[in-house]
Amino acid sequence: MHGPAIEAPCGPAEEATLAALLRCCVREVAGPRGLVWPAPPYVLLRVAGVLLRARTHGGAALRFDGPPERLESGAWRPLSSDELVTLVETELGGGNAEFAGQVAASRAAMEAILRARVEAVPPADPWLASEQDLVYGHPFHPSPKARGGDGWLRYAPEAHAEFPVRLLGVRDDVLDEGGDPSMLDALGEAPPGHRVLPAHPWQLELLRPALGGELIDLGPGPVVAPTSSVRTVYAPSHEVCLKFSLDVRITNCVRKNAWYELAGAVELTRRLAPVFDAVSVRHPGTRWLPEPGYRSAALGTRLREGLGVIVRHSPWAVCSPGVTPVPAAALALGKQPPDPLGWWRAYVGVVAPPVLDLYFTHGVVLEPHLQNVLVGLDADGLPVEAVFRDLEGAKLVEGRHDLVGPHPEVARALTYDAERGWARVVYCLLVNHLTEIAATVAGPDDALLRALWREARDLFDRQADALGRPLGLSDLLAGAPLPAKANLGVRWARAADRTAGYVPIANPLA
Ligand SMILES: Nc1ncnc2c1ncn2[C@@H]1O[C@H](COP(=O)(O)OP(=O)(O)OP(=O)(O)O)[C@@H](O)[C@H]1O
Ligand SMILES: [Mg+2]
Repeated sequence: MHGPAIEAPCGPAEEATLAALLRCCVREVAGPRGLVWPAPPYVLLRVAGVLLRARTHGGAALRFDGPPERLESGAWRPLSSDELVTLVETELGGGNAEFAGQVAASRAAMEAILRARVEAVPPADPWLASEQDLVYGHPFHPSPKARGGDGWLRYAPEAHAEFPVRLLGVRDDVLDEGGDPSMLDALGEAPPGHRVLPAHPWQLELLRPALGGELIDLGPGPVVAPTSSVRTVYAPSHEVCLKFSLDVRITNCVRKNAWYELAGAVELTRRLAPVFDAVSVRHPGTRWLPEPGYRSAALGTRLREGLGVIVRHSPWAVCSPGVTPVPAAALALGKQPPDPLGWWRAYVGVVAPPVLDLYFTHGVVLEPHLQNVLVGLDADGLPVEAVFRDLEGAKLVEGRHDLVGPHPEVARALTYDAERGWARVVYCLLVNHLTEIAATVAGPDDALLRALWREARDLFDRQADALGRPLGLSDLLAGAPLPAKANLGVRWARAADRTAGYVPIANPLA
């Protein structure tokens, strides 16, 4: 039996795929079953009866050194991502025929991205270039780069794509808009009785079957570049970001702006303006990206949502002169800074206090994960500002805001109960975000990592005092386990992202 040899995947895409899946296994599969054993420099775990190990540093970020292995007949052998998928399927009892395909698709996407990046030229704009550096994506997701369909590489930020938006003309009588979307009028000219609606060309292809004759095609508009979320693009000529719907699954969600989210972005922008003003008095490095308006076409829910576009301010417009915004996710991929402790102190000092102040003083839940926070670096590369973006993830704590006014569905989507909100803040800020930055800042030095968390603890302690020692923060300082979002679990269950559960992990502030 000598068929054509099937080449086992290898190289950086396979390494990243295996690492991300293994991290999910530690956190969500073996961890909750009591089947993870730290044995420095290794972490050992058992999945489907098989013992696995990897050299690791970086605390809960689980940065791996060298190839993960499986124990087989008394010897350690290299583990592959395909083998680990099979072990996960066995451990979880099967029943998800899509899972293996999603993992493989994500790995293939990474390979395509890496090939494209050999030739592709990064944008000269340093912020934009850093948006496009997230080649391997979310470090705790089983299929971080899976993107549905063909042709996605043309629109991929990681491949430094650039393309013109398509301009549509919407007749005034079917125009759907809210807030102040007037920035869109500058993108092109519409005939009398019409308004300009920019569309993502990929989304137009996906929506083609649903498009009737009501919209006029006004041809290509300004050239844009995709940011890290893929569906939000930046138009340098107009210094504006456009957050489009994209009917493609990216990590856990099909990226559609629901009608109540379009209206919700505007409602939140109006409500958060005075809140952020107040927060930035106490914490002067605080910035945010308002989403002042949206526009769409009232041609049934499918098109209304599918064509809905949110206007968002550019990070350059909100940062001080001489300050360069960089997504935290890109900083997490970087090198150890020259003065790790000083840099970390500055970093935590600009990022954490406003998030805590917003929650406890103002009843506002941000989603400050690595991709939703841009950190403003001064000329020396020191963190001096934090820019919070993505109002889809921002919520108002139930009972703390008067929600009379907006449509009940809009109000419902804008609110979170206090407990759920706090879990989200803690997960995003500590687990998703600061854990990764700390691992990068400390490098392989575990003693330094502990020193960083002592520093963070002092800072959280001072914040707790300033905020009147609220219970959630006291619990955190007393060592309560942290909630880690179960990305593998929600993909395995094929459930909506908002239903994702949390698994408890050790608290580095303790
Ligand atoms: N550590 C991370 N945590 C969360 N998302 C990450 C992380 N690293 C990369 N990502 C990617 O960033 C994107 C985050 O999605 P999110 O829902 O915040 O953005 P969005 O609403 O689509 O767009 P935008 O952020 O422009 O508003 C996903 O594509 C996700 O895979
Ligand atoms: Mg986001």
